[in-house]
Amino acid sequence: MSAVTRVGVLTGGGDAPGLNAVIRAVVKAGANNGIECVGVEDGFDGLIEPNRLRALRPCDVTGILRRGGTILGTTTQNPFAHPMPDSVIPADCSERVLANFRGARLDALVVIGGDGTMAIAHEFSRRGLPLVCVPKTIDNDIVGTESSFGFDSAVAFATDAIDRLHTTAEAHRRILVVEVMGRYSGWIALHAGVAGGADAVLIPEIPFDLAAVCTQIHERDQWGARFSIVVVAEGARAVGGERFALEQAHDGRLERLGGIGAWVAKELSVRTGKETRSAVLGHLQRGGPPTSGDRLLATRFGGKAVDLLQAREFGTMVALEGQRIVTRQLCEVVGKTKNVPLDSDLVKTARALGITFGNSMSAPSLPAFGSSSWRDPVIPVGTGDDSARNARVQGGHP
Ligand code: F6P
Repeated sequence: MSAVTRVGVLTGGGDAPGLNAVIRAVVKAGANNGIECVGVEDGFDGLIEPNRLRALRPCDVTGILRRGGTILGTTTQNPFAHPMPDSVIPADCSERVLANFRGARLDALVVIGGDGTMAIAHEFSRRGLPLVCVPKTIDNDIVGTESSFGFDSAVAFATDAIDRLHTTAEAHRRILVVEVMGRYSGWIALHAGVAGGADAVLIPEIPFDLAAVCTQIHERDQWGARFSIVVVAEGARAVGGERFALEQAHDGRLERLGGIGAWVAKELSVRTGKETRSAVLGHLQRGGPPTSGDRLLATRFGGKAVDLLQAREFGTMVALEGQRIVTRQLCEVVGKTKNVPLDSDLVKTARALGITFGNSMSAPSLPAFGSSSWRDPVIPVGTGDDSARNARVQGGHP
């Protein structure tokens, strides 16, 4: 078996804090083990287009541990259905990727990405491309690993934001609704919601009924809190409703979620009669430096990826299991989503503390809040609230 001596490194999908820490770890551990690294720019695009490869030596990665983003650039394009400038029909550029990989005299690839990138890597692996994957996402939704780097940083940022919103909510005795990312899973909402002391956490795994949230708010008002914090995941939806999308899926891209926070705020305002504001944390959750936890995880993942290259264990993904870094087969993890288990300790603890997930209806005896009825959903039209209106136009409102 020939030794691996020259590898390509690429980052794919949405960025997440810690990508540079992985690149650095692979380059440094690689150099110390006789492996030369080549950076591939903008994900798999760098193997489709010419002149998108560059040497990555230890001196090229010094100082990047604490930097957000990725020095290599990233893209959400799929090489199997790649948009072409002169055609509306996407092209399969996978043969070009394979040819450029061979032309660059690479022995293997380190692919750092989320579920979409992992699925692409798996397909290339099935076609004989030797590669090792490193799981990244702020959403924490990759199957097979207890955590992915980026998640801790996103939760830390969201928690800080909730802390700040707490003080203004309390000062004005308002309801503050905070919309966080997470795609189809509620990990960020749950973790930041509990860490930030939210009163309600609405996640995709538990379709919600706002009557239960109103009950919570009313009870808090009665004992004197008079303000409430509601954390809502972008992928959450009301019982019997649809998810809110700002943009529908197109050209191989996933739908862009968003708008639920504004809708929930509007509804709570009408139903409770209380002043309500909403804040969307958006891409702030993906930006900035990684936390120390993410730097450590990313560095450990990068070191393990080099071990796997040396052992020629291809078609694999590094993963966190308990305190250990382990190996998973790509075929076991792709095409699945890791959702929040409803019997998890954190969900149980949140409930024990009185945080509502919006699914325990105790509304029948509630007094009428505000001027409008409890259960008729009000769709904000003509309010200047674009996100909610867009979602409504696209049929996305609950
Ligand atoms: O997967 C990470 C993520 O930030 C999701 O939480 C979010 O839904 C999505 O990416 C946003 O994607 P984009 O940056 O393409 O708008």
